[in-house]
Amino acid sequence: MKVILITAHSDGKKSHTYQAANQAESVIKSKGHEVIRHEAFDMPLVKPKFDETGEVILNTDYDELIDQLKSCDEVVIACPFWNWSFPWALKNVIEGIIQKDKTFVYGKKGPEGTLKNIKRVTIYWTSGGPKWFYQITNSNFLVKHLTHVFKWLGSKKVRNFGVGGIMTNKNTPTFEKHLKAIDTQW
Ligand SMILES: Cc1cc2nc3c(=O)[nH]c(=O)nc-3n(C[C@H](O)[C@H](O)[C@H](O)COP(=O)(O)O)c2cc1C
Repeated sequence: MKVILITAHSDGKKSHTYQAANQAESVIKSKGHEVIRHEAFDMPLVKPKFDETGEVILNTDYDELIDQLKSCDEVVIACPFWNWSFPWALKNVIEGIIQKDKTFVYGKKGPEGTLKNIKRVTIYWTSGGPKWFYQITNSNFLVKHLTHVFKWLGSKKVRNFGVGGIMTNKNTPTFEKHLKAIDTQW
């Protein structure tokens, strides 16, 4: 199985987000699967340009990642909650990979994703606010947005594992439990 792992953190080394990503990577590899990892903050900035008719000019900066996404089985995304959603660099990657005739086509019912090879997307998220807050206020826009985008792109399933209440560099018992649970998710 081939897995694309995308992290989104501008200072990830000591971060909880990276700890979760590292754990997932190591568990997936231990099962004999291939993991190709990308950091969203290191990806090219997408600045759409338009031709004289107003059509978007296709961008080739993301072709390698698009090819990997077209031939992978699963995608893993690890990102923190920043200002009510995921960091901008991950939206930039989404802008880079969603391109007409590469990852979507105009079908009978309108634009339709073509990444139907992706069996599942797993989102690992971290937040300062407690997890229950996002549940009772129905305001987990990070999960909602990523779920919508990847289901539209063609993924059969999207699941998420989040941990809240992360206010310092220290690992809380709740975070340790979150990390340990990753072992049983693959
Ligand atoms: C720029 C910035 C914006 C943040 N915005 C939010 C937010 O909107 N909601 C929230 O619950 N936590 C927010 N936080 C807290 C982070 O989600 C939390 O510190 C992070 O998930 C911890 O993971 P890390 O150790 O990988 O950085 C924000 C943190 C930063 C640095």
